[in-house]
Amino acid sequence: MKVVSQRTLGGPEVLETVEAPRPAPRAGHVVVRLGATSVNPVDCKLRSGAVTFLGEPPFTLGFDVSGTVVDVGDGVTEFRSGDEVFGMVHTRTGTYAEYVAARAGSLAPRPANLDHRTAAALPTAALTARQALDLADLRAGERILIHAAAGGVGHLAVQFAALRGAQVVCTARAANHEFLRELGADEVIDYTATDFTTAVGDVDVVLDLVGGDYGSRSLRVLGPEGRYVTAQQSDAGEDPRVALVSGAPSPAQLEEIGELVGAGRVRVHIDRELTLAEAGQAHRLSESGRVRGKLVLTPW
Ligand SMILES: NC(=O)c1ccc[n+]([C@@H]2O[C@H](COP(=O)([O-])OP(=O)(O)OC[C@H]3O[C@@H](n4cnc5c(N)ncnc54)[C@H](OP(=O)(O)O)[C@@H]3O)[C@@H](O)[C@H]2O)c1
Repeated sequence: MKVVSQRTLGGPEVLETVEAPRPAPRAGHVVVRLGATSVNPVDCKLRSGAVTFLGEPPFTLGFDVSGTVVDVGDGVTEFRSGDEVFGMVHTRTGTYAEYVAARAGSLAPRPANLDHRTAAALPTAALTARQALDLADLRAGERILIHAAAGGVGHLAVQFAALRGAQVVCTARAANHEFLRELGADEVIDYTATDFTTAVGDVDVVLDLVGGDYGSRSLRVLGPEGRYVTAQQSDAGEDPRVALVSGAPSPAQLEEIGELVGAGRVRVHIDRELTLAEAGQAHRLSESGRVRGKLVLTPW
């Protein structure tokens, strides 16, 4: 089968398509024929070595999968061959591959009205968005400030927060303001023209998808009961109001999210669809920091 692999850490040019043996189903695992995967910024950080939890290359990147079960390992009761699934897979054998080995407990049934591209755009971004709002205990009537709201995690977090009845304030470039208002944002701050700390205050929750000095600056706009949740390293420091979200597989939450998207209550924006032969180009786009919504990758 074809996979995207890399022999060394480095720029997008290290990504290459190679032949590899098709995975065999281990106990508790299934093998999924890939319908689509998607790019997350962590893929680029792993490729370059900025993040190292996959160890040394060679490895295959990718966490999101939508596809069809083709092999089932011992002890798997959730799925049979032919089932349509989607989910989040954290392995060194990755999802930038024609066939993906996945723990059965990391996958959910793919709703019939979600195509592969939409389903593949969801797992990491949507679970991170959902789990961040849970961690912050965001409640109806509260005010949330979402940084990098136009990106993969952000554009879903905006919609989840609005569905919870929160008032949603975002930071984004002006070109994304109309997009974010259509998704349910009440107020959008152009961070290139305005320092958000002067434009908003008394916020109940900040969801930080930028990091760095957005941490300490965000703490300054929190109200008395304020909570700050970040998906990125920031300078917020040790503070009881600070929590770090780490998106984790949850088939039950994915099923709920799939239903919301299938029912048209949440929209997934796909900025570009490329093939896995174009993985390097997809990484260049992701690293531009300008992707609106998600980048999706389909097989060669
Ligand atoms: N810890 C975890 O489990 C976890 C999970 C998922 C993601 N993350 C991290 O969370 C971050 C966001 O992920 P993502 O997938 O949403 O990224 P993404 O899709 O690549 O985000 C791109 C968006 O970021 C916006 N942006 C860039 N700089 C900004 C700034 N200074 N202020 C406001 N918006 C800015 C851009 O909008 P404009 O064009 O409007 O600037 C763009 O639309 C990444 O660092 C990622 O690694 C962590």
